Amino acid sequence: MKGGEKMGWWRWTTPLMVAALLSAWQFVPSQTDKVALGRTLYLRHCAACHGERGKGDGQLTKVIVPPVPDLTEGVFKLRSTPSGTLPTDDDLRRVIGEGIPATPMFGVKGLLSDEELDALVAFTKSLVPKFRTEGAGKPIAINPMPPSPELLALGRQVYAKFQCSACHGPQGDGNGPLAKTLRDSKGRPVRILSLRDARNYKNGYTPADIYRTLMTGMDGTPMPSFAGAMSEREAWALAHFVHSLIVNNPPPRREGTAIKVAFASTTTNSQGDSYQDASSLWLPLQSTWGRTGKPDALQVQAILTGRQLLLRLVWDDPTPNEGAPRPDGVAVQCPEDLMKPLPSLFWGDPQAPVRVWRWMAGRGGEVGRATGVGTMRRQSTPFEANGQWRQGQWSVVMKIPLPDGVQRLPMAFSVWDGGSGDEGERRMMTGWHWLVVEPR
Ligand code: HEC
Ligand code: HEC
Repeated sequence: MKGGEKMGWWRWTTPLMVAALLSAWQFVPSQTDKVALGRTLYLRHCAACHGERGKGDGQLTKVIVPPVPDLTEGVFKLRSTPSGTLPTDDDLRRVIGEGIPATPMFGVKGLLSDEELDALVAFTKSLVPKFRTEGAGKPIAINPMPPSPELLALGRQVYAKFQCSACHGPQGDGNGPLAKTLRDSKGRPVRILSLRDARNYKNGYTPADIYRTLMTGMDGTPMPSFAGAMSEREAWALAHFVHSLIVNNPPPRREGTAIKVAFASTTTNSQGDSYQDASSLWLPLQSTWGRTGKPDALQVQAILTGRQLLLRLVWDDPTPNEGAPRPDGVAVQCPEDLMKPLPSLFWGDPQAPVRVWRWMAGRGGEVGRATGVGTMRRQSTPFEANGQWRQGQWSVVMKIPLPDGVQRLPMAFSVWDGGSGDEGERRMMTGWHWLVVEPR
């Protein structure tokens, strides 16, 4: 038996190779045409939603909320440029790099190299015919005005004067009289989220971000640009006022967070009683289909005992759902082969398959392999996973074999809350993060 085969479901490499691989992921052959590289990356990381040609007709389009736009129409919400114009490369770099908060579009920053991000920007532009005849708009000037009690008071008046509350409600909760009737430029219903939750801002929630949103508008939606309608001072006053409505200040959703592995000397029992030693991390969860509510984060702890990686995953769920029709559950995915590029977050792709370890309440653990949406094939490999529901929380402990020499392993998580309607691709998910094993 060769070393690499011993682990069964892993195709593995030696520690030296792993080091080489980590740099290989960052390596871009200089002769590669930027748009061609961008296309490869786009097909892997974007097409499941946006479709091969950007028409918004990917495999997941029917599930995803908010609706996936047809990029070829050249209407962009998130710009630094005036309403009706095209975004700059920096705007696209921000959107593709950071992802879009409050949507299942995760960013690639920290996962792909800067060259790869630039290639994605170039390829995305190539999908939009308008970029061939028109350049990007000219970014609006942003000259910050510091907050003051007077400015905030003015902001409150401006909010009333421009009837922001008709859509956003008196306190920005998203419950104005028009809120339920809003449609986008294609007649599809538009969600209007609370301005009091920092996680809901697609365009950023600092006063400068909000100022930019007010001056540029979100094209294609009922959220207009107020440039010309209000003075610069009124707009800053309003930006500070809206910012002051925010009641939470969560760290931004970040892909590529390090999940640090703790080492256990004794065997940990299956309910993870010795997990006190392992540092725990809450990773933000995002719904693929626009439902709000719990769970909005997944607690992850990782312990290495010998070659076994014990993952303890905890999330809030008021009611346990076991068995049919919609069981609660959790899944972890990792690249099958670290020699391959970082796989699609949506269950891998033919060039870069993923391994999936899934636990469903009432069914237990199963190992699968996938090369894209809807391709999951169950393996016969045994896999130990135990779940327990207690006081409004699921706690699941999984045992995954981790071969020697791994230092950084990409990992992404999915959670299903059957009681809230999650099922199949309708789920809560994280982006890719890194499991980090620091040499002892
Ligand atoms: C899970 C589905 C999904 C994936 C994967 C995804 N997107 Fe998106 N994307 C969306 C949705 C949904 C929107 C619209 C969000 C909204 O309207 O609020 C969007 C919007 C956009 C926009 C328009 C932003 C604007 O200003 O209006 C661009 C550009 C974009 N995506 C590029 C990409 C690229 C490039 C990738 C791959 C690196 C990608 N997306 C991956 C779902 C996805
Ligand atoms: C006709 C309805 C309507 C009016 C009036 C309106 N908005 Fe909006 N606003 C929207 C909608 C719809 C969205 C969400 C668009 C989306 O995410 O697709 C939005 C989004 C926003 C956002 C969040 C942007 C982000 O980053 O996601 C802010 C901030 C905002 N509006 C502030 C204001 C302020 C301040 C006013 C008053 C000057 C105002 N809006 C007036 C409909 C409206």
